[in-house]
Amino acid sequence: MSREENGVDMAELKVAPSILSADFASLSAEIGRVSASAVMLHVDVMDGRFVPNITIGPPVVKCIRQVTPLPLDVHLMIVEPERHVQAFAEAGADIISVHAEATFHLNRLLDDIRSSGCRAAVAINPATGLGAVEHVLHMVDMVLIMTVNPGFGGQRMIEEALVKVRELRDIAARRGLSLDIQVDGGIDDTTVTQAALAGANVFVAGSYVFGAANPADAVNRLKLEARKALAQKS
Ligand code: DX5
Ligand code: ZN
Repeated sequence: MSREENGVDMAELKVAPSILSADFASLSAEIGRVSASAVMLHVDVMDGRFVPNITIGPPVVKCIRQVTPLPLDVHLMIVEPERHVQAFAEAGADIISVHAEATFHLNRLLDDIRSSGCRAAVAINPATGLGAVEHVLHMVDMVLIMTVNPGFGGQRMIEEALVKVRELRDIAARRGLSLDIQVDGGIDDTTVTQAALAGANVFVAGSYVFGAANPADAVNRLKLEARKALAQKS
């Protein structure tokens, strides 16, 4: 598979449905509706402090772990994430994303995530610059560039955040790092193309996927649109 101009290998395009927009009363069935096409599940953890909303904790992640073999991409939108990474790792997380804004000791925290056996990712809000993560790029498998202010599903993408995606893809190429760049917030069949062209290769989508009549098809549609955009560009 050829490498594209913006450094994204089409084989590495991934869609991560966010269960935040699923029906929590039927979570297992909802997960079943995306399992034919999703390659991972995005699990949004909110504490009512780092973000205004409150969602789920390790006990629910543990239950999700029991009903799907899909890798669990756990996005911690919580203050003092260092207090909780171990519990999420034990509950069955495969990837843990922590916000650079939420901790004083990012390097140590990323080390702890890796020691727990999980892949480590670092996330930044739209208002945070890449300077907050440049020094830890060698320690992570993925950087999550938030394309909305976190807290809720169904928001409109903040396009300016894609400038950071483009810059980060350049930095990764210059340093020879094969970094997953994930975008989260306001991803649909139009914005996914903008994000892919900017250099993102992992697309989180909640309302677009779970609001669709057929969520598995919606996942495929996102992947297809991203692929098409990159193919046209090359
Ligand atoms: C927002 C969460 C997202 C959310 C995205 O704070 O981090 O993962 O589920 O939802 P959509 O795709 O509806 O913008
Ligand atoms: Zn998220």
